[in-house]
Amino acid sequence: IAHTPELGRLEVLYNTAVGVDKAGQIAFIQPETVDPVQAATSYDSSLSAENIDVVDISGSENQFFFPGFIDTHIHAPQFPNCGIFGNATLLDWLETYTFPLESSFKDLDIAADIYAKVVERTLANGTTAASYYATIHPLATNLLADMAMMKGQRALIGKCCMNQNSPQHYIETLEECQKSTNQVLEHIHRRDAKGLLIKPIITPRFAGSCTEDLLRWLGDLRSKNDYHCQTHLSENKAEIEWTMKLFPDFKNYTDIYEKTNLLGHKTILAHCVHLTDEERDVIASHGSGISHCPTSNSSITSGEARIRWLLESGVNVSLGTDCSGGFTPSILSVARQAHLVSRHLVMKTEVEAEKLSSNDVLYLATMGGAKALDMADSLGSFAVGKKWECQMIDLACEGSPVDTFKYQEPRWESSERAEAEHRFQDLIDKWLFNGDDRNVRRVYVNGRCVVKK
Ligand code: GUN
Ligand code: FE
Repeated sequence: IAHTPELGRLEVLYNTAVGVDKAGQIAFIQPETVDPVQAATSYDSSLSAENIDVVDISGSENQFFFPGFIDTHIHAPQFPNCGIFGNATLLDWLETYTFPLESSFKDLDIAADIYAKVVERTLANGTTAASYYATIHPLATNLLADMAMMKGQRALIGKCCMNQNSPQHYIETLEECQKSTNQVLEHIHRRDAKGLLIKPIITPRFAGSCTEDLLRWLGDLRSKNDYHCQTHLSENKAEIEWTMKLFPDFKNYTDIYEKTNLLGHKTILAHCVHLTDEERDVIASHGSGISHCPTSNSSITSGEARIRWLLESGVNVSLGTDCSGGFTPSILSVARQAHLVSRHLVMKTEVEAEKLSSNDVLYLATMGGAKALDMADSLGSFAVGKKWECQMIDLACEGSPVDTFKYQEPRWESSERAEAEHRFQDLIDKWLFNGDDRNVRRVYVNGRCVVKK
C-alpha cells in the first residue's frame, strides 16, 4: 500500500491489512500482517471469516494500492475534442473549438452518450473524484450528475454560467441562468441529499463570460450555502488584458472574484499561470484551492504556472486534466506533465527549487486534490476514518506499458528495508512515466469496487 500523505513523501506499507467497513471507511490499518482475517477479527471479535471479504494481492511487488486520483478541473462536454486544438490559444480556441461543441449538448442524446463515456474513461484511469464543468443546459447537467451516481464516481457537478461575450446560440440571460442553476441544485439535492457521492458546484465560466451582477448572485449563493465553487483565473495574457478592460473598476483579475464573493475555502481556481504576489496572497487568505492544468497550459500555449511559488504561500494546489484544453483524461499523464513543466521553468529561471519531484506531483494528484476540494478528512491518502477510495495498480499485468526491470546492483548500501524502499520508489517512478490505464486493475470509490478489469 503506497500513498503520498505529505508533499514530496512517499510512504509504503508492506504486507499490510486494511479493514474497510460497510460505509466504505477505513476501520484499521495493520502493517506486517500475515493473516487479514485474523487482523479483522482481532479488530472486531463479532466478525468471522464468512462475513469478511478478502482481496489479497500479497506475493507481488508489482501490485499495490494507491489513493484514487482527484481531477479538480475537467470539462465533461469537451471530451470529444481531446487532442483537437491546432495552434489555437485560449480566446480563439473557445470560439473555434469549444463553444460549438458545448452548444450541441442541448441535445440530451448527445449528452447521455458523451457523459457516460467521460465518467467511464476517467474512472478507468483511476480518477475516483472529479470536479466537472458541464454546459449551460440544466437537463444535460442533471444527466451528468445521474451518470456519476450510476457509475459510482465521486463528483462535483457544475452547471456552466455565462451571460455575456458568448455566441447567440450558447448564452443565457441573468434570469435564465438563475433559474437553470436552481434547477440543477434541486436535482442534485434530490438525487443525493447527503452528498455522499455527488455535490453541486457553483460555476461561473470565467469573469469574461459573466456580468458583474451574475458573478455577485453566484457569489452570494455560494457563501450563503457554503457551496463549492469553481472558475478559471489568470490563464492567458490576452485573456487577462481583455478581462481587465471588461472590469475596469477592479484592481486585478483575482479582485473581481474576491469582490463578488466567489472566493471561499471550497473554491477551486483553474490555471493561475500569471498571478502577481498580491493575487496569490489573496487566494491563500481565503483558503481557496488551485487546479494546475499543465497539459492544457502547454497545449494552448498559456504558460508555465509557478507551482513551488504557490505551494510556498500555503495555497492548496491540485491537478486538473482540463479536457479538452488538455488532451488527456488521465491524471497520471497530467502529473507527468507537471513534472516536466516544472523543469522547463527551471531552465528559464535557473531556480532549482522550482523542480517538482515524482512524489510531489503524485501528492498533487491525490492529497493536493483532497485539500483543494476541502475533503482531506476523507480522501487523498490512507488513514483510519478516511474513505477506502483507491486504485489497484499492477505494473506487470498483461500488456503493461511498464517494463518492470529488476535492477542488478543495489545503488545504496543500507538495510534490506531501505533497499526495498528504493526499489519501490523506482517502480513508482516507472509507473508515473510509463504507466497508463492498463495498469489500473480495480478502482474503489466509497469502499465499493466500481471498476474491475
Ligand atoms: N476559460 C473559459 N472557458 C474555458 C475552457 O473551457 N477551458 C479553458 N481551459 N479555459 C477557459
Ligand atoms: Fe478549463
